[in-house]
Amino acid sequence: MEIFLDTANIDEIKHIVRWGIVDGVTTNQKIFLNEKGINFETRVKTICELVRDKPVSVESNGKTLQEMLDDARKFTKIAKNVVAKVPMTKDGLGLEAVKMLSSEGIKTNVTVMMNFNQLMLATKAGATYVSLFYNRAKDAGENALEIVTEITNWIYENNYKTKLIVGSVRNPDDVAQAAVAGAHVITIPYKIMIAMPFHKKTDETIEEFDKAWQEFLLHQKV
Ligand code: E4P
Repeated sequence: MEIFLDTANIDEIKHIVRWGIVDGVTTNQKIFLNEKGINFETRVKTICELVRDKPVSVESNGKTLQEMLDDARKFTKIAKNVVAKVPMTKDGLGLEAVKMLSSEGIKTNVTVMMNFNQLMLATKAGATYVSLFYNRAKDAGENALEIVTEITNWIYENNYKTKLIVGSVRNPDDVAQAAVAGAHVITIPYKIMIAMPFHKKTDETIEEFDKAWQEFLLHQKV
């Protein structure tokens, strides 16, 4: 299973890359808004350099098919590891865009999906990644955990290479549940990532061992 960072912040990416567990980055318009005042292209280039050859999803803002294609083609020229993020749209234009982009060899991440059918259609259209918005799907009354298992089984049984990304995670437990359910990738915001190494009992145990060590040193034979 891979772990992506759901951020466009340089310090956050640099920090977690040092942990040796980052397999890619995902961004969206709201994530870029958090970085107010930056240049979009320069930032995408920097993120791509920071994660080397690992995938960096950058979302198209287009509303028409042509606009979606233009954005995807433009963004994937910024660096070779950019993946064109295309939203699932109710008119099917997102799917049409993905079909065309995949025939051009452009990697895609179909995003903002809430149920099995959307994920299945995007997989069939040729998406490299399909993104389930885990908690937003739950907010809409979907059984997001069940969808993770169902779609990963379906992808496997039908011999697709598409990877399921679980996004919209809101706490470390979501990460554990999605991982156990079979997610291929989980994209995690920095705030949640830095909370993941923590367990109260781990801290208490380290403290207990530190005290024991101090006591040992007092009685050590020199
Ligand atoms: C995934 O690619 C998205 O960037 C992300 O996880 C969005 O989720 P949220 O807006 O619910 O946080």
